[in-house]
Amino acid sequence: MKILVLNGPNLNMLGIREPEIYGNKTYKDLVAMIGDRAVKSGVEVEVYQSNHEGDLVDKIQSAYKNADGIIINPAAYTHTSIALLDALKAVGIPAVEVHISDVNGREEFRKTSFVRAACVKTVSGKGFEGYIEALDFLTQYIGENK
Ligand code: DQA
Repeated sequence: MKILVLNGPNLNMLGIREPEIYGNKTYKDLVAMIGDRAVKSGVEVEVYQSNHEGDLVDKIQSAYKNADGIIINPAAYTHTSIALLDALKAVGIPAVEVHISDVNGREEFRKTSFVRAACVKTVSGKGFEGYIEALDFLTQYIGENK
């Protein structure tokens, strides 16, 4: 089983950006944490980050027939990007939306998610653990829906 983990703009700045919201751990820590869980679960993961919307669209398209599931934190593109929604719909791969912070408890504009309509689950406000919850959920979901 192969899972693609996608992270959008500014998530490479984790540990530096707004630590009161996103915590002190770095993006490298996040990648290591996801990798550890994947090894334990016997799942292959590819973790990718980009600050560019089109790159993320390309990466989703490249998952077609190459990945069994997608975990996506589109960051700010969550609230703006119909292109990411359409890409997820186009490939038809089960996807889980993740947010480190509680997007529903912040500014009004963060309550809107375009990608949500193409995701089987959303995990929000659980910090880095949210990615682990998403990985565990998706592994089980794919196993049950083969
Ligand atoms: C975020 C929440 C978004 O609103 C924000 O633009 C981000 C990160 C999160 O993980 O909490 O960059 O997706």
